[in-house]
Amino acid sequence: MRNFDYVTPTRLIFGEGVISELPAVMKPFGKRVLLTYGGGSIKRMGLYDKVKELLADFEIYELSGIQPNPKYDPSVLEGVKICKEQKIDVILAVGGGSVLDCSKAIAAGAKYEGEPWDLISGQVLAQDALPMVDILTLAATGSEYDCGGVISRTETNDKIGYMDPHLFPQASILDPTYTFTVPKKQTAAGCADAINHIMEQYFCEESSLLNDGMMEAAFKSLMVNGRKCIENPEDYTARAEMMLDCTLACNGIFSLGNSRSLWPCHGLEHALSAYYDITHGEGLAIITPRWMKHILNDHTVDRLAKYGVNVFGLDAAQDRYDIANQAIQATYDFFASLGIPMHLREVGIDDSRIDEMAHHVAELEGLDEAWAPLQEADIAAIFRASL
Ligand code: NZQ
Ligand code: ZN
Repeated sequence: MRNFDYVTPTRLIFGEGVISELPAVMKPFGKRVLLTYGGGSIKRMGLYDKVKELLADFEIYELSGIQPNPKYDPSVLEGVKICKEQKIDVILAVGGGSVLDCSKAIAAGAKYEGEPWDLISGQVLAQDALPMVDILTLAATGSEYDCGGVISRTETNDKIGYMDPHLFPQASILDPTYTFTVPKKQTAAGCADAINHIMEQYFCEESSLLNDGMMEAAFKSLMVNGRKCIENPEDYTARAEMMLDCTLACNGIFSLGNSRSLWPCHGLEHALSAYYDITHGEGLAIITPRWMKHILNDHTVDRLAKYGVNVFGLDAAQDRYDIANQAIQATYDFFASLGIPMHLREVGIDDSRIDEMAHHVAELEGLDEAWAPLQEADIAAIFRASL
């Protein structure tokens, strides 16, 4: 087991009705609040009115219209401008991962004198950030419990994921009933995203029995509960368990002491959603089985077979390549059974920019020193196999 230094300072407030704690949670940070949200789902579900009612004693400014795959320009830049001009004390992000990620970038940019992209691109390390609280409405990314954010810059086709310890939310309000209205497409994509977060940690050089056990349980929980959420969107128990799965899947707790993973499928997917603005979880579901197939070799086969035996209950007495191939097919079949389009062409991507994207990923992500190294030609091959 490798050395590690781990802290997650975010307070999780979980369960039906916990929104009542919002005023007390916000109070220590100050009165001037920037409320950030997306395209209107929080208004349709009545959450916007509830927040305004609970925060009647606060001074609220708003940034709305944050899009999926949140954009640097205008959303991050506009948010930073409001924070600086209105001397905002705290950001309250209400929505899915895109709203939370955008709010994190705003929180850092608000305390920085230069161009906020310096922080997102990692050229400059943030020294400070505004505090951020969130109310999550979509179980998927884990942004509510990590210090990462992913921001897109349209003009350069960049979609950059970055981490900064200043960006852990102060508190995350997690009420599973707020996810009842998440459409089937986003529920499926969220399930695939969280499953892939676990895979990115599971498929590595060195892990422990403890970590493997936690991850295998989380895979199974997501597969069972993701399906239940799609079949019955108001199944509280399933929505609650899926929400907790997603929260834990991305903050590193499942891979303490493991060897480092470079999160290859995320590197590839970020190019797809940067170039074509597709839904992150769908892109991952399409790429993942093709990535598994591409990297299957004598070095990786035992790990893939272990996943097949412990997650899908495959017969361990079979040939290890047979088990691995069945596990890859079972992964594909599971995503397909959630209704996810399983080919890039179905989400509007053809082969015209594959080489350009592969080059971009190879340069930006540097995936050639991983458990399963990927050169530019490998990345292009995985994209082509996903068409
Ligand atoms: O914009 P609104 O109207 O709110 O609608 C959203 C959006 O259209 C809708 N939605 C959210 N909650 C809803 C709802 N609709 C009905 N009822 C509700 N309760 O869902 C749509 C998608 O929302 P979005 O926030 O984009 O989805 P998600 O949470 O999957 O976030 C995806 C983004 O997070 C990044 C992805 O790359 C992508 O940009 N990621 C962030 C990570 C992190 N911070 O650690 C890790 C992930 O790997 C991921 O890369
Ligand atoms: Zn993801």
